[in-house]
Amino acid sequence: MIEVQHLTKRYRDRMAIDDLTFSVEEGEILGFLGPNGAGKSTTMKILTGFLPASEGVARVGGFDVHRYPLEVKRRIGYLPETPPLYPEMTVESYLRFVASLKRLPSREQKTEVERVAALTGVTHVLGRVLANLSKGYKQRTGIAQALLGSPPVLILDEPTEGLDPAQRAEVRALIKSLAGKHTVILSTHILPEVTMTCEKVLILNQGRIAAYDDLRKLAGTQGTAESASLEEVFIKLTAA
Ligand SMILES: Nc1ncnc2c1ncn2[C@@H]1O[C@H](COP(=O)(O)OP(=O)(O)OP(=O)(O)O)[C@@H](O)[C@H]1O
Ligand SMILES: [Mg+2]
Repeated sequence: MIEVQHLTKRYRDRMAIDDLTFSVEEGEILGFLGPNGAGKSTTMKILTGFLPASEGVARVGGFDVHRYPLEVKRRIGYLPETPPLYPEMTVESYLRFVASLKRLPSREQKTEVERVAALTGVTHVLGRVLANLSKGYKQRTGIAQALLGSPPVLILDEPTEGLDPAQRAEVRALIKSLAGKHTVILSTHILPEVTMTCEKVLILNQGRIAAYDDLRKLAGTQGTAESASLEEVFIKLTAA
């Protein structure tokens, strides 16, 4: 469903990602890990068509993200690092607005907004203005807009950032429930979240792939004890 070959991004002379090759099968959830500045968000921005790559190819559902940006955007729900909210709108008017941007039929928009609002726990704040919401509710609204229309592919850049523990557990369960039906790439700094939701993990370090494997096999293949935790593997692979 997602194919990335030799993807490279330079910001002037800074190499943000360097020759990444990986793929995500339909229905798979890939955990995207790496220290700050490793290139996670940059990769996600390229996959969703928000940034052009310097070299290499990325395809979503068989469509090259650079050549067919609209076909790609139609298939992707994207939660960027900073949720793209219009502060003066209410949660409901914002979600209705995104639903119409996604060209959901107008008679389905209301029920679809209600569905994603319930999933992300924002039903009781639908009438409130976004600017006045707490950080966690803004994040929930960001996740809700990504889910609108049930796109086959979800690219979620730190979806549980800023959420309270209860909502974090709910969002985790929600993401887990998407497995099989949706293809998901999820970045996070919370390693247990990956252990709980993903089967496959990609660890980036300084723009390169430091590890890319099934979660179960990861410890063994990285020269650590089979029993090593994801945290131990992460620290070993990303040590300067
Ligand atoms: N617009 C930009 N101009 C120049 N350099 C940039 C730009 N955006 C990102 N970078 C650089 O690219 C590298 C990768 O950044 P990126 O945001 O992809 O990292 P990340 O893995 O998402 O980090 P974090 O965990 O902090 O979110 C960093 O060195 C960063 O400084
Ligand atoms: Mg980032």
